[in-house]
Amino acid sequence: MKGLILSGGKGTRLRPLTYTSAKQLIPVANKPILFYGIEFMRDAGISEIGIIVGDTRAEIMERVGDGSLWGIDIEYIHQAEPLGLAHAVLTAEKFIGDDEFTMYLGDNLLRAGITSIVNEFKKIKPHCMILLTPVSNPSQFGVAELNDDGSVKKLVEKPAEPKSNLALVGVYLFNKKIFEASRKIKPSFRGELEITDAIQQLSDDGHNVHSSIVEGWWKDTGKLDDMLEANRLVLDTLEKKIEGRVDEASKIEGRVIVGPNSRVINSSIRGPVIIGRNAVIENAFVGPYTSIADKCHISDCELEHSIILEESIIRDIPGRLTDSLIGRKAIIEKCDIKPQATRVMLGDSSWVGLG
Ligand code: TTP
Repeated sequence: MKGLILSGGKGTRLRPLTYTSAKQLIPVANKPILFYGIEFMRDAGISEIGIIVGDTRAEIMERVGDGSLWGIDIEYIHQAEPLGLAHAVLTAEKFIGDDEFTMYLGDNLLRAGITSIVNEFKKIKPHCMILLTPVSNPSQFGVAELNDDGSVKKLVEKPAEPKSNLALVGVYLFNKKIFEASRKIKPSFRGELEITDAIQQLSDDGHNVHSSIVEGWWKDTGKLDDMLEANRLVLDTLEKKIEGRVDEASKIEGRVIVGPNSRVINSSIRGPVIIGRNAVIENAFVGPYTSIADKCHISDCELEHSIILEESIIRDIPGRLTDSLIGRKAIIEKCDIKPQATRVMLGDSSWVGLG
């Protein structure tokens, strides 16, 4: 079996970060989301992975490399335009050949990994297997309506009036019949070749579409809140590890990871928290569910429930910074320039919530 990870797309819902960077490389608990998918595939015994890339391909190829980091082979497949998940499948036809494959959306996270799912597919050998999970807001997802015997009756992408609360999780298993089905469908109203339509086509053509309910949580990290939730869920699974230096005046509570060469000075850290390498936390409070990447400098301030990317500086700010996603090399600081005022230089489509 081969693996196909979709890491193209536009990432409009995570602008401005996605103007300069691939959303699949945004870290969750200090590890790019995409790496979780690669590791799940490797753990499921998949050693040949194709990654669909678009405009952000240079950055992804540089970070991920040829797969040797994980002892597997990784190839890149360029999708010239993000014309939908089924279009991405068609773009990968040559790479997949006659093999069965697991397709994984590069911005998704599954608590339980994919090993049991891959094994179930190999045992049952359907033409397609989809994963479902109950959600409270089904109209934001692809939704499956099942027959009484559990087989798939109908799949609809983001239905206005959902017929069930079962959303499609971003992992699909296929055999080569999916190429034929993807060629038969037409673009949807949003101009994309939808994978739900291709799977519906498989079913209409009389092929066996099997569904399975996901065990444990699943997160699609397309938006800020989802990203913060994924960060919470992963941080909850990590164990305490202090590799950097924590001075006597500092207090560490709960599951806290401090990476090599980082320093915690006169600060209070209340886990779950992860701090990367070469970071400095000084005269600060870092509260639960915070991920601070390498080389950040946090001083004279309070923050919690946030993701801070590499080399950012947060110093001497009033109040507590919370529920935030801060990009690379950002600076948030108190400034003494008169008149006293809030001054910002923000990228396009940025968002600031002043308290
Ligand atoms: P989406 O999150 O559905 O789309 P997007 O990345 O364009 O984001 P937004 O809706 O915020 O603009 O895509 C799911 C995953 O699939 C994501 O990792 C990007 C990838 N993808 C492709 O590789 N090719 C495509 O044509 C599309 C639509 C998505």
